[in-house]
Amino acid sequence: MKVHVLGSAAGGGFPQWNCNCPNCDGLRKGTKRVTARTQSSITVSGDGSNWVLFNASPDILQQIREFPALQPARSLRDTAIRAVFLIDAQIDHTTGLYMLREHRQPHELWCHALVREDLSSGNPLLKVLEHYCGVNWHDVPLQGKGFAMPGVPGLHFNALPLISNAPPYSPHRDHPQPGDNVGVTLTDTASGKRLFYAPGLGEMEPHVWAAMLAADCVLVDGTLWTDDEMIALGASKKTSRAMGHLPQSGPGGMLEWLDQLPASTRKVLIHINNTNPILDEDSPQRQELTRHGIEVSYDGMEIEL
Ligand code: MLT
Ligand code: MN
Ligand code: ZN
Repeated sequence: MKVHVLGSAAGGGFPQWNCNCPNCDGLRKGTKRVTARTQSSITVSGDGSNWVLFNASPDILQQIREFPALQPARSLRDTAIRAVFLIDAQIDHTTGLYMLREHRQPHELWCHALVREDLSSGNPLLKVLEHYCGVNWHDVPLQGKGFAMPGVPGLHFNALPLISNAPPYSPHRDHPQPGDNVGVTLTDTASGKRLFYAPGLGEMEPHVWAAMLAADCVLVDGTLWTDDEMIALGASKKTSRAMGHLPQSGPGGMLEWLDQLPASTRKVLIHINNTNPILDEDSPQRQELTRHGIEVSYDGMEIEL
């Protein structure tokens, strides 16, 4: 399978329009070794021509322009995006659907029923889209043998519930239900290789850890370095965990977990917040990741499994 990182940043992107944290300010002034990043999305293909889009970020048009494989140009109006999978109903993962409204047929949309509910009520995006191309909704099972997606050959999908958080507009905010956030294992049906993808992961539960252990590559939550990162900067009153993101450092943090994976597992962080010091290639935090064999994803990164 081919995995293409369309957007490696968390909500807000990097630099964030209104932010003057050391990273955002350093990027604008050219004083830090940092690279701009768009918001959280990947696309995956089993055959190199039919792609599933994971999350539709507000930056989707720029992301599609920068990845020509998504525009095969076989007819006047065309796309290689055969299906869209939403891991949650957050703004940074869903707003791009508005930008894809000119589709000639309904989008094949895969998401859990709770995500569909939030996107039909608190943020009625799917209702608005009915006035354009609309969607053909497919429920995402959280148990059992997993599923295939018509039009996306060569890939098998297994979704699992995660503890993260529902969007601020959701009635489930701070009380997430199973299905508000999911992780997914993608298996290449020819090679048997597996990718585990979870850009929002707030707590390591046994079934999540089992999926990570079984993967050849984990592409997981890299939002914040410390639990109190946003509080310390004066940017928010919430800890990383309260927002549904396991921080990298500290006891029980993502680094401790990734260290326990086999050396052969490729470990990559994604959904990186603009405040995170790992974005600075000269930071001690980035060097620590490198020592632990952990990669920081970037826009345009390709992973072949
Ligand atoms: C999150 O990942 O916690 C949200 O996307 C944050 C946001 O929407 O700003
Ligand atoms: Mn997010
Ligand atoms: Zn910033």
